[in-house]
Amino acid sequence: MSSLFDSVQAGDLNLANRIVMAPLTRNRSPNAIPPDIATTYYAQRASAGLLITEATAISHQGQGYSDVPGLYGTEQLDAWKRVTDAVHAKDGKIVVQLWHVGRVSHTELQPDGGKPVAPSAITAKTKTVLIKDGVPGFVDTSEPRALDAGEIPGIVHAFAVAARSAVETAGFDGVELHGANGYLLDQFLKDGSNKRTDDYGGTIENRARLLLEATRAVVDAVGGGKTGIRLSPVTPANDAHDSNPQPLFTYVVKQLAQLNLAYIHIIEGATGGPREIADRPFDYEALKAAYREAGGKAAWMVNNGYDRPLAEEAVKEGDDLVAFGKPFISNPDLVRRLRENAPLNEIDKATMYGGGAKGYTDYPALA
Ligand SMILES: Cc1cc2nc3c(=O)[nH]c(=O)nc-3n(C[C@H](O)[C@H](O)[C@H](O)COP(=O)(O)O)c2cc1C
Repeated sequence: MSSLFDSVQAGDLNLANRIVMAPLTRNRSPNAIPPDIATTYYAQRASAGLLITEATAISHQGQGYSDVPGLYGTEQLDAWKRVTDAVHAKDGKIVVQLWHVGRVSHTELQPDGGKPVAPSAITAKTKTVLIKDGVPGFVDTSEPRALDAGEIPGIVHAFAVAARSAVETAGFDGVELHGANGYLLDQFLKDGSNKRTDDYGGTIENRARLLLEATRAVVDAVGGGKTGIRLSPVTPANDAHDSNPQPLFTYVVKQLAQLNLAYIHIIEGATGGPREIADRPFDYEALKAAYREAGGKAAWMVNNGYDRPLAEEAVKEGDDLVAFGKPFISNPDLVRRLRENAPLNEIDKATMYGGGAKGYTDYPALA
């Protein structure tokens, strides 16, 4: 029987333990360039079996929040190389989360102040973060425009280029496509945000097309063994909604089973909220079974609200990896604390988004 502290192979990634740092946006990257202290922040957490970076924009159009990092400029890639070098120096493994926000953006963050792009011209009932004079504030997202079908190959290409740059230039061990939390790929998947009548809308096959095209392009660029994907079947985050998620996600994972990915990363329930949502039931065991029956061999990573007992139980029952979000913000040595069953530091919510070292690199490790 496996324990949280056993090593595991996820595609090409040989991981020292099954504890993963979930992707965590921290809004500390002015001009989309990770700051020098990001090197300290990630290196402090390198004892995780795997670090997944904060969501990182694949293009300027893919930006949706102030001071989040990118992967599309030389200085961004150079800064990330310093981060991956620091993590590797501590024998850690790190992948970058590839992000296109779609409609969850603001005209102020878009190239030439244009409208954010989306499957359909439907404004998300959600907020983004704009930092003014150093002070972060939540603002409504802007009305998006529907992508022209002719623009979609360019977005698929941007995912592939970002993945290749991440691995070849920035030194990442792999990449994770952000297919979750109501961002572009999830917006296409779900019928609450996708009302298209072309090959990218309507049927499940059509709504899944962009996510699968982007994943295949990333796999072609860096190899399936270096590619993971994050999905959130029922999260209401960023106004995400689908009328029938079980067959939608069953189809998606069956297709992903053909791609020899490193891992499938599932957010169970409402991201950062309840693991069960009364009016959005979902059978995650059936999803995993469908993936395995279709021949999928990737590591199965679970997330959302895990503590030590729940994580140990998940691994005992056959999940391969458990991703922890907030606990990793406030506990750089989370792996050791879980191993020793030591108490955890409390998180300071005021310093989650934006700011400097406070609430970022100054959480204490155990003596
Ligand atoms: C400050 C903060 C930033 C987050 N940023 C991201 C992100 O960049 N990408 C992502 O997929 N999820 C993001 N999430 C969601 C977390 O990865 C995770 O799914 C969530 O916190 C639930 O896990 P937990 O209960 O272990 O915290 C973020 C959550 C928090 C609290």
